[in-house]
Amino acid sequence: MPAVAIIGAQWGDEGKGKVVDLFTEEAEMVARYAGGANAGHTLYLGNTKVVMRLVPSGVLRPGVKCVLGQGMVVDPLALDQELRELLAHGRDAGGDILVSERAHLVLPYHKVVDELREKDPGLSIGTTKRGIGPAYEDKVGRRGIQAQTIRYPGQFRAAVDRARKAWAPTVAALGGELASVEAMLEPLQGALDRLLPMLGDASRAVNDALKAGKRVLLEGAQGTLLDVDHGTYPFVTSSSSTAGGACTGLGLGPRKIRRVVGVTKAYTTRVGGGPFPTELNDAIGQRIRANGGEFGSVTGRPRRCGWLDLPALRYAAQVNGMDGLALTKLDVLTGFSELRVCVAYDTPEGRTLDLPDLGEGFQGTPVYVSLPGWSSPISGARRLEDLPPEARRYLDFIEEQIDLPFDLISVGPHREETIIKVAPFPS
Ligand code: GDP
Ligand code: IMO
Ligand code: MG
Repeated sequence: MPAVAIIGAQWGDEGKGKVVDLFTEEAEMVARYAGGANAGHTLYLGNTKVVMRLVPSGVLRPGVKCVLGQGMVVDPLALDQELRELLAHGRDAGGDILVSERAHLVLPYHKVVDELREKDPGLSIGTTKRGIGPAYEDKVGRRGIQAQTIRYPGQFRAAVDRARKAWAPTVAALGGELASVEAMLEPLQGALDRLLPMLGDASRAVNDALKAGKRVLLEGAQGTLLDVDHGTYPFVTSSSSTAGGACTGLGLGPRKIRRVVGVTKAYTTRVGGGPFPTELNDAIGQRIRANGGEFGSVTGRPRRCGWLDLPALRYAAQVNGMDGLALTKLDVLTGFSELRVCVAYDTPEGRTLDLPDLGEGFQGTPVYVSLPGWSSPISGARRLEDLPPEARRYLDFIEEQIDLPFDLISVGPHREETIIKVAPFPS
């Protein structure tokens, strides 16, 4: 049974958590492959909101194995805190979690560096300050510490000491200071002790599950335009959030992925700095933010809001090889008399349906098509036929323009507020 990947098609926060949680009803394993505690995936247990940062969004369903792949960077403190929060919600998840022994650790000095850089206007890009960039820097610089090192406390301490020395000049240049190795490790010990029994071979676990005919979901974090290779560099995260990242981040062959579902909002949001051509810095943008509760699930920052960008979605379809779309937050657009959708860009070279490079030389202007809005609430819709004709027209327009089918339409944050067109796994 091949795997199904759920990928963010925009700048993150598309509603991947909700989609994964929903699809997990039919899955036996959910594996995350990139990022770390910079992710915030919101789920609902009844009316209780739960935000997952490191643990895959399948965790609310007991018995589903949750794998954190080697493409991730794992902050032991954040993981420990997340597991405690789950416990407070009545879910004792430790036994269902496997953390790749090859995943890299996010340690206190990574967070110090990330925070100090964010205070420097010349360096800040609006990160989540979770130490993600510095941890991946250590990984590709071949100085990082893999989770398996904690099996050998002497080696682990020596590695932390080396890393601390390596980062000290950077921290000093940024006007900061690092705590001693002991002061760093002491508060971590409990979390490391709890992490130890969760360590294992993630690649083997995922491949064995697939071989045994189990249904596996691959959960993306961040989004296509935040991918370090394919995103709006340098305003990106430091990992491979696109579908290819699922292969490297889990040790999974590309042909094992049967379907790639791109998750997109019915409009666009972005947190942090960087280009966003369809951004609305006006009352409409504020209204979308208010209607959609568009405040970061990790940092609480107001999300920047704008119209749906179809060239960006076409780009996401291309770089991920998307087979279908899951469109979320359609309900947020209720009450607007006019909806606009960016269908193309005017550039000095002419009009294009493609997303131009949004780097420093970008001179494009979005070309909009205007569509009629609807006024009656749609969160009760469970079939396409339940939607007002204008909402269906909005969906049809997107489907035609992107030339991909919708697998799912989400009309509210809760599980049941969903119109499913295509089941994730064929029966
Ligand atoms: P993720 O990072 O992609 O998992 O998305 P986030 O959880 O960061 O942000 C999505 C937000 O939208 C969360 O607060 C969800 O509860 C909420 N959400 C998801 N789908 C819908 C929807 O269809 N309608 C509304 N109103 N909210 C939704
Ligand atoms: P989920 O999985 C939205 C953004 C940050 C910043 C940039 C780099 O919830 O969709 P980082 O801390 O990764 O070094 O920050 O990436 N960013 C996200 N934006 N959703 C996310 O995750 C994000 N993870 C990182 O705001 O602009
Ligand atoms: Mg999020």
